[in-house]
Amino acid sequence: MHLPKQVKLVEVGPRDGLQNENTFIPTEIKIELIERLAATGLSSIELTSLVSPRWIPQLADHAEVIQQTQRLPDVEYSVLVPNQQGYDQALALGVSQFAVFTAASDSFCRKNINCSLAESLERYQSIVKDAKQKNFRVRGYISCALGCPYEGEISPKAVLNVAEALLAMGCDELSIGDTIGVGTPGKVKTLLKTLLDAGIDKKILAVHFHDTYGQALANIYLALELGISIVDTSVAGLGGCPYAKGASGNVATEDVLYMLQGLGIETGVDLDALLEVDAFICQHLKKPSRSKVALARAAQ
Ligand code: HMG
Ligand code: MG
Repeated sequence: MHLPKQVKLVEVGPRDGLQNENTFIPTEIKIELIERLAATGLSSIELTSLVSPRWIPQLADHAEVIQQTQRLPDVEYSVLVPNQQGYDQALALGVSQFAVFTAASDSFCRKNINCSLAESLERYQSIVKDAKQKNFRVRGYISCALGCPYEGEISPKAVLNVAEALLAMGCDELSIGDTIGVGTPGKVKTLLKTLLDAGIDKKILAVHFHDTYGQALANIYLALELGISIVDTSVAGLGGCPYAKGASGNVATEDVLYMLQGLGIETGVDLDALLEVDAFICQHLKKPSRSKVALARAAQ
């Protein structure tokens, strides 16, 4: 086994997790969530998205969240931008780490950001170029990499084409998203090997699994075996995508951390502190945690 010694967890709960909640969560709760997550030792956190409040009402307070969150010096805080308007707003708010997001499926792209896949890449070209000229870090998301709610099967080649386009425009990191959580380890292996065999550096690949079919941990383990060392997770397993019906939460940060600790892989994150954040947000949302580890610990 050649598992990485260290893994970077990218906490997407405040963005991917909360974007799916129907009842508006007060801005101060979002900020407290982010600040508590940073205090657990997580080194990379998605704050919010600069998307249209008509499309994602939950994140309509994006400017306040960006402006009012107290930052820790060694933590990366990023925001999603879907277009030039979002990028310009992010710049005006002093953001220096971005994620652009498209998909391996044209139909999903249209439902999610109201433009074709080709148009999305065209749109991001100038945004990424400008961000790189400013020395900012940019992540590129590829949704529906293992299946699409509208198109069904997605070929690894389709994912590779989008990955190469995002890298050519200058993205520093790619997050490979199983938006609807249909992937299994065999498919994940084929997909990741396609990307790696095409020459994409394993160091810049992140995996982003939703746990709809309970495959996320197995898929992550497979990715680790291929040398991937960046994993997207969401506290309490919050999440889903409003434009991918039936997609359940992201894999829970606690569950991934528990597995990594068991494997002796370093993350810098404190599990007990994370479980307190889980309890905080679940109490606020009046929902049980989707983290198996949180449920097991609560039962002890
Ligand atoms: P559109 O309607 O095509 O936009 O939406 P438009 O350019 O035609 O403008 C229409 C109106 O929207 C105008 O306002 C613009 O000002 C406004 P009006 O004049 O009518 O009052 N507008 C904006 N407002 C705020 N911020 C902006 C912005 N842009 C235009 N950036 C748009 C296009 C991209 C805005 C819309 O489709 C959108 O906001 N989509 C976001 C969807 C989203 O956030 N989805 C979830 C994130 S992706 C995800 O979860 C997957 C991921 O986790 C990975 C995985 O799991 O696979 C990343
Ligand atoms: Mg997601």
